[in-house]
Amino acid sequence: MTTPTTPATPATPTTSAPRELAIAATGLRKAYGDKTVLDGIDLAVPAGTVFSLLGPNGAGKTTAVQILTTLIGADAGELRVGGHDLASAPDAVRAAIGVTGQFSAVDNLITGEENMLLMADLHHLGRREGRRVTAELLERFDLVEAARKPASTYSGGMRRRLDIAMTLVGEPRVIFLDEPTTGLDPRSRHTMWGIIRELVAGGVTVFLTTQYLDEADELADRIAVLHGGRIVAQGTAEELKRLVPGGHVRLRFTDPVAYESAAAALRDAVRDDGALSLQIPSNGSQRELRAVLDWLDAAEVEADELTVHTPDLDDVFFALTGSTTAADSTTSDSTTSGSNAGSTAPAARTAADSTADSKETVR
Ligand SMILES: Nc1ncnc2c1ncn2[C@@H]1O[C@H](COP(=O)(O)OP(=O)(O)O)[C@@H](O)[C@H]1O
Ligand SMILES: [Mg+2]
Repeated sequence: MTTPTTPATPATPTTSAPRELAIAATGLRKAYGDKTVLDGIDLAVPAGTVFSLLGPNGAGKTTAVQILTTLIGADAGELRVGGHDLASAPDAVRAAIGVTGQFSAVDNLITGEENMLLMADLHHLGRREGRRVTAELLERFDLVEAARKPASTYSGGMRRRLDIAMTLVGEPRVIFLDEPTTGLDPRSRHTMWGIIRELVAGGVTVFLTTQYLDEADELADRIAVLHGGRIVAQGTAEELKRLVPGGHVRLRFTDPVAYESAAAALRDAVRDDGALSLQIPSNGSQRELRAVLDWLDAAEVEADELTVHTPDLDDVFFALTGSTTAADSTTSDSTTSGSNAGSTAPAARTAADSTADSKETVR
């Protein structure tokens, strides 16, 4: 052994390789009496990301949050949050997390500032530090002016901001936000989205429940659709959208003769004789658009309007659950149902655990 082998780069780039999971659940179950609310769900949320649990009212979102935040017990499941096991180290979990519930934790009878100081006390921050943190957070959440007023006088948006500010007093690494924008006006909603983005930029992991598809689309790195007690699909917004067909180009005509010529030229098109419009299955790519335009040119017809429709999460939700209950989102501009005669099959499903019943509802 004469040549000492120079230590090559370590075979396994230790610790940092797979991103650490902030939340990991396997086989999470919960029933109330004989009503099964969570029927064995698996979740994996990498640290520093936004994960959205999407589902309509009654789907079990709050139940999942309550379990993962140690407020109630699960019937079964292996659960880890912030690197700690929920069953054996609930206190460590509590120290790592912050929760903003669906229903506000704000005490209406006292001022915003007093609410904050109370939280600081709960976290044993000490007087000076408590005041410092309170002042900083009130400033950050634009509540300085309202700080000395009773919380009962706050608008919905201010109350939510105060709620989140209170959550941040303990400097949590993982934050659970249960329907943080339900009931907010559009502007407060956007403010809240900005706040959530800021949190994530600061390295925090956010577990967000929502019934708004556009919200999940806007904020989440990954989305899980909760339906019938199960996760029926999971993936990025883009991956979920690829589960459903429904992308199409729509051509609208005012001249019936032009409409008929176009319909004759584009045999793939789905006709809507009443509206004088044609729908052509399309993924919206430049290449496919050009092909449509070339056909039209070749047939020497000109549409009065051409619009491109890509499937949105509404379509996905409908396809997966057969209902549009979670459909308060900025709904798609046209009815997309029945839009896809003969279009390409949906891409591979991302969710390993998609249930059979969700498949048959894919249009
Ligand atoms: N403490 C409870 N006792 C009995 N049933 C409950 C309880 N909490 C929630 N549920 C039921 O569990 C289901 C899921 O509720 P929840 O988790 O609040 O849904 P979501 O937050 O998605 O609207 C609902 O049918 C609800 O009625
Ligand atoms: Mg709820």
